[in-house]
Amino acid sequence: MRTQVVIIGSGPSGLLLGQLLAKAGVETTILEQKSKDYVLGRIRAGVLEQGAVGLLEEAGAATRLHSEGLVHEGIEIAFDGARHRVDFKALTGKTVTVYGQTEVTRDLMDARAAIGAPTVYEALDVTLSDLESERPKVRYVEDGKDCEIECDYVAGCDGFHGVGRRSIPETVLRTYERVYPFGWLGVLVEKPPIAHELIYINHARGFALCSMRSTTRSRYYLQCRLDERVEEWSDDRFWEELTRRLDPEIARSLQTGPSIEKSIAPLRSFVAEPMRFGRLFLAGDAAHIVPPTGAKGLNLAASDVAYLSRALIERYSVGSLEGLDGYPKKALARIWKAERFSWWMTQMLHRFPESSGFDQKMQTAELDYLFSSKAAQTALTENYVGLPY
Ligand code: FAD
Ligand code: PHB
Repeated sequence: MRTQVVIIGSGPSGLLLGQLLAKAGVETTILEQKSKDYVLGRIRAGVLEQGAVGLLEEAGAATRLHSEGLVHEGIEIAFDGARHRVDFKALTGKTVTVYGQTEVTRDLMDARAAIGAPTVYEALDVTLSDLESERPKVRYVEDGKDCEIECDYVAGCDGFHGVGRRSIPETVLRTYERVYPFGWLGVLVEKPPIAHELIYINHARGFALCSMRSTTRSRYYLQCRLDERVEEWSDDRFWEELTRRLDPEIARSLQTGPSIEKSIAPLRSFVAEPMRFGRLFLAGDAAHIVPPTGAKGLNLAASDVAYLSRALIERYSVGSLEGLDGYPKKALARIWKAERFSWWMTQMLHRFPESSGFDQKMQTAELDYLFSSKAAQTALTENYVGLPY
C-alpha cells in the first residue's frame, strides 16, 4: 500500500490534519489504535479559540459547532469570597466557543467519512521506519494481519503515549517537563450549568472549575491529590466538596445529579523538541502537554495542525520545502507561550501542598493585581482567547 501522508492517531489533531489535507487534494491514511467508539467516549477539552473554530470551518466541519456551540465573552475568577469577571469582548473584541472535544471529533469523523478518506481503527503495534529516507514505512497489525504502508511523510498525531515521539532517537530529542503535585477530578452531569460563563475558583480547600458542554450539560472539576482514586469519590462527596469551594450565593444555583462520567487527570507541562525527525512531524499532545487550567491543549493541537497542513500543502502544490523546514521553529514559538500561560494560570489558581507563607502572599498579590489592572486582564485575555497564528 502507498499514500502521500500517513497520520498516526484519530484525535483532534490527526482528524483535523486529514481534513485540511484532503481539501487540498493530498491523500492520507489515518491509523488509530483504538475503536471509533472508544475515541468518541473520551471526555476532554471544552473551550475553542477563534483560530480553532476558523480551522474547523476551513475543514468543512463547523456546521453543528455554529448551531450548538456557546459563544462566551468572558470568564469569572473567584477568590477570597468575591467573583471577578474578565471581559474578553470588551478587552480584545474576541470571544471563545464552548463546544466539547467529543463533538469536534465526531464532526471531523463524519466529514472524513463523507469524502471517503480511509481510517483504520484498531490498528495495532504501529511501527515507523526509514524516516530519514525518501520512502518512510509504517507497519501495523489489522485483524491479526501484518500490513505496511509506504508514504512521503508521517504525521505523529498520536498523543502523549503514542509511537511518534518514541520513534525519534534519544540523541535528537530534548524534553522539558514539570509535573504538578495534584490532579483534576472531573465530573460530567446532565444538568444546566451553574452560571452562563466559566468560573475558575481559587479556594483554601483547593482549585475548582465550573464549566459546561451545553445549556443542559455541565462539567465540574476539583483539584485533588495525586494518590486519590476515582472510586473514593461518590457523586455525593463530589457535590459536597464542590459546594464547599463555591461562595454561598452561587452555590444556591448548583444543580446536582448522577455523574455521566468521572475521571482523574494528572497535571503536567511537557515539551519535546524539535517536533521533527527526517520525514516524521509531530503535532498536538504527541509533542507537548499543558495543564488544562488555560484550556489550551486542544487549541494548541489545532495551531500545530494549521502550520503543518500549510507546509505540506505548499510542498505538494509548489514543491517548496520551506514550510516543512520551518515547522518546528514556528510551532514551538507559539507552544512555549501557551506553556507559559497554562503554567501561570495553574500557579495562580491552585493550592500547592508545599507552598510557604511567602508563596501564598505572592499568589494573593498576583490575583489582587489581576483584579485591579486592565493591563493584566488584557494580558490574560490575549492568551486565553488565543495568540494569533
Ligand atoms: P489525542 O486526543 O490524545 O489523540 C491521539 C490519538 O492517537 C488517540 O486517539 C490515541 O488512541 C491514538 N494513538 C495513540 N497511540 C497510538 C499508536 N501507537 N498507534 C495508533 N494510534 C495511537 N485539554 C483542555 O484544553 N481541557 C481539558 O479539560 C482537557 N482535559 C483532558 C483530560 C485528559 C484525561 C487528557 C489526556 C487530556 C485533556 N486535555 C484537555 C487535553 C486535550 O484533550 C488534548 O490536548 C487533545 O486531545 C490533543 O489532541 P491530539 O489529537 O493531539 O491527541
Ligand atoms: C472543560 O470544560 O473541560 C474545561 C474548560 C476550561 C478549562 C479546562 C477544562 O480551562
